[in-house]
Amino acid sequence: MEKLDKTKIKKYWNKNVSDNYLRSGGPPTLEELSILRHKIEMKRFLKNMSLKKTFNFLELGCGSGRYSIDIAPMVKKIVALDFSKKQINQLKQEILRRKIKNIIPIYNDMTRFRTKIKFDLIFLSGVTQYIEDDELIKSLRYLKTRLNPNGIMFTRDSLNSSDTVYVGEIYPCKYRSKKSFISIFEEERFENIKFFSAYSFIADGLFRKVASISFLRKILFNQCLFYVIESILVSFDKPLLFLFKKVKRTNVDAQHLFSIWKNNEE
Ligand SMILES: C[S@@+](CC[C@H](N)C(=O)[O-])C[C@H]1O[C@@H](n2cnc3c(N)ncnc32)[C@H](O)[C@@H]1O
Repeated sequence: MEKLDKTKIKKYWNKNVSDNYLRSGGPPTLEELSILRHKIEMKRFLKNMSLKKTFNFLELGCGSGRYSIDIAPMVKKIVALDFSKKQINQLKQEILRRKIKNIIPIYNDMTRFRTKIKFDLIFLSGVTQYIEDDELIKSLRYLKTRLNPNGIMFTRDSLNSSDTVYVGEIYPCKYRSKKSFISIFEEERFENIKFFSAYSFIADGLFRKVASISFLRKILFNQCLFYVIESILVSFDKPLLFLFKKVKRTNVDAQHLFSIWKNNEE
């Protein structure tokens, strides 16, 4: 029998190390795709927002807290709210597991949320699409009373380039047109500072397809390659989505966009 070659073994495992410590060698999974995507989003978020250790941070529709958990060491206090009991319970478990002291998880509907605390940054990621226009306007009206002077509102939304579309029965939500999204914020005197991509829908779709072909998955889910391909595709998101819309004969051509707002109320 051949002798085991330790150099080759080491080489194999050095090559197959993953960012996710839970996977020790097998091909990357769809879960890892979400982790890679999250890293890209976080990078873009932090590039555009300087967090301070003195900040009170509010996240509405936080899910199981991927943003709040990463941001916790960079701010003073986080209030993280979601109306899904299961999502909030998962966040609570993660808070316990990681011994995080500065996140207050809240189980509530964001349209009913009231607090005495004032915030330096209010973040809404992937939640405005589940709220009707009148509810969103009312929420913004309330939220601006909870912003400190110079406080910032930061959102991440799926915004359709063309009209507002209702997405579907199983996944009921509205992808607003960028125009109507802006007009809602402007109605409450929020001024837009900037819009920028959170990640490429097209890249995400492509990588999900590739994930079903294991040998391609292994090559493409290499972190560097993933970042390079994503950053190329994200620059062409708009024309690619236009093409996608034509080919698929769909009315959805939403981009995932971050946007930053400041309130101009006296
Ligand atoms: C697409 S997930 C986004 C989760 C997280 N913010 C992220 O970016 O990964 C949407 C979340 O919004 C929550 N949500 C939807 N409508 C809500 C409402 N009215 N009040 C509070 N949470 C809501 C859902 O329960 C879900 O966890």
